[in-house]
Amino acid sequence: MTQRTYCMIKPDAVARGLVGRIVTRFEEVGLEIERLELGMVSAEQAAANYAEHEGKPFYDGLVSYITSGPVVKMVLSGPEAVAVVRKLMGVTNPKEAAPGTIRGDFGLTLDANIVHGSDSPESAEREIAIFFG
Ligand code: RTP
Ligand code: MG
Repeated sequence: MTQRTYCMIKPDAVARGLVGRIVTRFEEVGLEIERLELGMVSAEQAAANYAEHEGKPFYDGLVSYITSGPVVKMVLSGPEAVAVVRKLMGVTNPKEAAPGTIRGDFGLTLDANIVHGSDSPESAEREIAIFFG
C-alpha cells in the first residue's frame, strides 16, 4: 500500500555535508520525494514532534539539538514507506545500527543520530502536518 512518511535530516548531518548521500539512499530504493525543504525547526515544532518524550531525561537536549541548525524536511512516499525508511535508517543508537544503514554508516552517538523517520503511518500524518502544515 502506498504510504507517506515524514523524514528529517538532523542538524549534524546537514552541517557535515551528508544531505546528498542520505537523499540518494531513499531515491535508490525507489521512494518518491514529494516534498523537500531546508530550514530551521521552531521550538513549537520540536515540542509537538517530540511530545511523546516530554519529561524524559534526554528531552531538553533533544529539543535544543533539533533546533540548533538547519535540517532537511522531507515527505517520502511509496509502498510501506514508513517501514522502508526506518529500515534504511537503522536502529536509534548508531553504535548498534547495522553497517549499510544510514545511522550505522554515518553516525557515532545517540544524540546526534543523523536522521528522523516517523514510526507509524499515524505519526507520519501528524508529523507532516507539524512540518508542512
Ligand atoms: P527519531 O524519533 O529521531 O526518528 O528516533 P527513534 O524513533 O529511532 O527514537 P526515539 O525513541 O523516538 O527517540 C527520539 C530521539 O531521542 C534521542 N534519544 N536519546 N539518551 C537516550 O536514552 C535517548 N533515547 C532517545 C535520540 O536522538 C532519538 O533519535
Ligand atoms: Mg521516534
